[in-house]
Amino acid sequence: MALLTNQLIRWFRKNKRDLPWRENPTPYCVWISEIMLQQTVVNAVIPYFRKWMEKYPDIAHLAKAKEAEVLRMWEGLGYYARARNIFKAAIEIEKKFGGRMPETWEEWRGLPGIGDYTASAIMSIAFGKPYPVLDANVRRVGRRILGMAAWDKKREKELLEFLREAMPRKNPGAFNEALMELGQKVCLPDKPLCEKCPVKRFCIGFEKNIQNLIPGKADRKITKKKTYLALFVSRGKLLIVKREKGILKDLWGFPEFQEEGEIASFIKKEGGRRFKETGKLKARIHYYTRFRDELIPFVYEVEKQFGGNAGSRRWVSFNELEKYPLPSVYRKILEELLLKTCPAKI
Ligand code: ADE
Repeated sequence: MALLTNQLIRWFRKNKRDLPWRENPTPYCVWISEIMLQQTVVNAVIPYFRKWMEKYPDIAHLAKAKEAEVLRMWEGLGYYARARNIFKAAIEIEKKFGGRMPETWEEWRGLPGIGDYTASAIMSIAFGKPYPVLDANVRRVGRRILGMAAWDKKREKELLEFLREAMPRKNPGAFNEALMELGQKVCLPDKPLCEKCPVKRFCIGFEKNIQNLIPGKADRKITKKKTYLALFVSRGKLLIVKREKGILKDLWGFPEFQEEGEIASFIKKEGGRRFKETGKLKARIHYYTRFRDELIPFVYEVEKQFGGNAGSRRWVSFNELEKYPLPSVYRKILEELLLKTCPAKI
């Protein structure tokens, strides 16, 4: 075991990437980076992390921010519940801990948005405590090393036990990051690069040549969906609505419809009378983990700013839209609208 651990750590020292959150792995930096890295690849996270640290260099700055501004910083990363939870947790840290960063696994685990994985990543990387992490990469690496072709909950415990034993007392964070990085660069889901692997001589999956069976192909179905978006424009302003629920909760967007024909009846119902469809913008695909949504935007010029202008509905100018957090695919639609239309006219 010690040999496997040593080989892995040596490989990591030589091959680890210079990532901004590795420069100064404080609890705050590790926390923010680990949340950003969930469901998002490293390269996409780097610029967001840098921007974030400029704007909110510590918990005190973050706790004083506005939620809309935090969501705006997150625009493009997706899965916005992550940003909302970071913000909630920051306020809780200010209130409950008087601004001191939590120092135990249990304290971290009790905060919004922090699960076993994140609490363990923070404790090991920022505090040097021996908590193994199990994300999708580490799980695949561990299962291959142990030759676990079959999988169930019991195996998860065995795997954690193995990681706990293999983890060096001196540098548990490097061990966890080494496994993550091995999973990202060498022990790939398809066509793993076993020849380059620093621990292949300890790998039962490699020895038995079953590495390609792990993980078994997930038979995940992607559901397809179509959504019609209406960009209502009236006297230089655009109607936006705030999402009350779902994974895009608290983000703003354009009114959505399941059928194109529902748009005209919506305008009439809301008291808008004279209107005309003035264009169709490029359809765009919004990917979620389990479904893909084809967004089909239509532009409508309407005579009156109908339907109220308060709460979760607003008529806003193009300049004001800068302040509102929108899913990034919506921002792209907006850019196309601006390019195609002379903003002075609308
Ligand atoms: N993915 C999740 N956490 C990571 C980390 N600390 N380093 C590299 N990739 C990661």
